[in-house]
Amino acid sequence: MSDKPTPVSGGPPAGPCAMVIFGASGDLTRRKLLPALYNLDLEGLLPERFAVIGTGTRELDMEAYREALSQEVIGHERFDQDRWHALLDRVDYFPSDLTDPASYTRLAQELEKAEKEHETGGNVLFYLSIPPSLFGTVVKNLGDAGLVREENGRWRRVVIEKPFGHDLASAKALNEEVRHVLAERQIYRIDHYLGKETVQNILVFRFANGIFEPVWNRRYVDHVQITVAEELGVEHRARYYEEAGALRDMVPNHLFQLLSLVAMEPPSSFDADAVRDEKGKVLRAIQPLSPEDVLSRAVRGQYGPGKVLDVGDVPAYRDEEGVAPNSEIETFVALKLGIDSWRWAGVPFYLRTGKRLASRLTEVVIQFKSVPFLLFRDTPIEHVSRNQLVLRIQPDEGISLRFGAKVPGPSVQLGSVDMDFRYADTFGAKPTTGYETLLYDCMLGDQTLFQRADSVELGWSVIQPVIDVWRALPERGFPNYASGSWGPEDAEALIARDGCAWRNP
Ligand code: BG6
Repeated sequence: MSDKPTPVSGGPPAGPCAMVIFGASGDLTRRKLLPALYNLDLEGLLPERFAVIGTGTRELDMEAYREALSQEVIGHERFDQDRWHALLDRVDYFPSDLTDPASYTRLAQELEKAEKEHETGGNVLFYLSIPPSLFGTVVKNLGDAGLVREENGRWRRVVIEKPFGHDLASAKALNEEVRHVLAERQIYRIDHYLGKETVQNILVFRFANGIFEPVWNRRYVDHVQITVAEELGVEHRARYYEEAGALRDMVPNHLFQLLSLVAMEPPSSFDADAVRDEKGKVLRAIQPLSPEDVLSRAVRGQYGPGKVLDVGDVPAYRDEEGVAPNSEIETFVALKLGIDSWRWAGVPFYLRTGKRLASRLTEVVIQFKSVPFLLFRDTPIEHVSRNQLVLRIQPDEGISLRFGAKVPGPSVQLGSVDMDFRYADTFGAKPTTGYETLLYDCMLGDQTLFQRADSVELGWSVIQPVIDVWRALPERGFPNYASGSWGPEDAEALIARDGCAWRNP
């Protein structure tokens, strides 16, 4: 668990429900979901009448399972043994084969049992933490078993983890499959970036403050940079990553979420559909990339060996466990996008993400234009730095504004200074997983922070030309960046051509 301010507090506890976790023997349940439920409980937000039913392919000894779940929270600074055990007492598990209808008959029985024991009121949150190839099958089987029917005032909701499809066609097909069984209001397509406090704060920063919105446009903004840099390599996920690569893994979801929050128009209300309508409009307005554009505005990279600051010497991607020795999968991507709108015409949005980069850093940089002319004649123009607003999403969560200031002394010399806000200093840091708000919102039925079918498809349609061109023209020069660097030289060149540079702190 990372140290970030507590996501939700002060609200009412969610109403009674059961949460069914498919894939409950996996990492996500242990590392994120159960600790998030525990944090919600500590904040008084978990329903009083609540149960968790986990299921997975493995036979598990219940004692050992609870023990494994406990490992993650025991070190928690607010660990309260009685409270944790009270939560564990509400957790059950049964082995299942998700392709077999008999497993859903068993699930129905388990749900009835939970309803009787814990008075969950017939409300159920199904969480699909399973291989994406099974999403459609599970939803269909839930439908066939009558488990997602909402009647007598009870609700049934399904949370679907990413990746939602692997290209535009498959995302459309999956949307069709799930919408055949579920109404859109029952579908919660999760993007864990929206669970981050700092990501949610983009909206508050923009729309709860009067002074930024008037300059948030092409008249004042020179360009926008969005960076999601990781020090981690592929870890033990080569099987998935060899199919996905950085573009699919990060861009249509996490980076486009950041892009749409930064670029959207103010919604007419904070209602889920009003917000999602505006976000969708941004994605719809992204200039479509022609194959020529892909060659000039999209850069891919793959890490070679190198030294990463907090990690030490690391091998090349191609030498990682489970990766093909001649893999052509990209572990880095940079894009230059344009948005066809009155607000953003002519303002480039530079996006980049990669693994094994120089540091772990997610941030949005709003680079403002230069002053119209230079009043301080003896100062060379290049010494006057432009205003820069940095929204630091992680790890050092905060916001800083760079501006010019006079260096004290008899002559006029200019320096750059930062006005800096750090979440941890102001609000303190309580441990959270990033899933608390998302789970709580699912229980409340608030879809604001979840992806609607149209935005998932719009995201894929923006990057589909890149997928197509890259597939047709495999990169021959991999690896093209050293681990521990800021990515391939071409990514520097992409932005340098426009007279700008990435902020590489
Ligand atoms: C996941 C990707 O969605 O996000 C991973 O599949 C990536 O490859 C992760 O490492 C990054 O998330 P965070 O919260 O650590 O920035």
